[in-house]
Amino acid sequence: MAQNYSLAKVVIEHKKLINGFEYIEIKNTSATAKIALQGAHIFEYKRHYGNPVLWLSESSDFEHMKSIRGGIPVCWPWFGTPRALPSGRMPKDESLPQHGFARTAMWKLKNTNETDANSTEVTFSLSHTPESLKLWPHRFELELHVIVSDTLTVELKTTNLDDKAFLITQALHTYFDISHISHVRVKGLDKKPYFDALSMKEKIQDGDIIFNREIDRVYQDVYGKILLIDKNRTIKIQNEGSSSVVVWNPWVDKCKRMSAMKPSSYEGMVCIESANAFDDARIIKPNESHTLKAMIN
Ligand code: BG6
Repeated sequence: MAQNYSLAKVVIEHKKLINGFEYIEIKNTSATAKIALQGAHIFEYKRHYGNPVLWLSESSDFEHMKSIRGGIPVCWPWFGTPRALPSGRMPKDESLPQHGFARTAMWKLKNTNETDANSTEVTFSLSHTPESLKLWPHRFELELHVIVSDTLTVELKTTNLDDKAFLITQALHTYFDISHISHVRVKGLDKKPYFDALSMKEKIQDGDIIFNREIDRVYQDVYGKILLIDKNRTIKIQNEGSSSVVVWNPWVDKCKRMSAMKPSSYEGMVCIESANAFDDARIIKPNESHTLKAMIN
């Protein structure tokens, strides 16, 4: 049975799929959003006009301990695989989950706030457990604060509850819904240095990014707005507490090898991830916090 947190025209409902998978549905006069408790994973964000902003794979699983393919997976406390040094390119440790454990952990709904009819705020939290300490030996509190309005605002706050500093890399791994990959370009990264994960080389961006093959890159020194220009709309992404951005499209061959993707899935999505990755890793001292923020509109 759905549980209603509100009687006003803003609705925040706690819902369950038939398999027990829980999520929060938010509806206000600007937009609707769905956020799973597993991973605090925003898997739908739609304004009341135009196409959905976030892409969700048709073959996405909503299953315990499996990351949803699409929306905004929270990659934490490492992006990709953990690396010994922020700038080090260490060999993969296959025993640790890719992109960390937060995206498949069960979070708690901590707070809800109907700011006004156009804007709804929800906060999810996650803390260390005996299981997380085995994977990553640090005590922490993680909060995901989401504001659903004409703009989707996502803030991921890490607080160190330990008595020694720790290092994190992370990403809000946003999958954007696009008309077709051949129609889009990404502006705002011209002249930025990037690590090309396909050639494993450092390169410099020349002009806008267009997509005609697999792309998997971590850009550094990024502070300004990024524009995702599609045929009939432009999405703007502004990050704070971050100077790295990941741009990824798997193209057809990788799609065939990936879970919850169809061979043609690459045509309708592109990931532009608000990150603290590689040289932008953050060291957080005891009792201190770091917030990674993305504003999407
Ligand atoms: C991107 C990486 O961030 O995430 C890619 O740059 C990776 O290399 C992609 O394939 C998806 O990862 P996953 O673990 O969700 O399949």
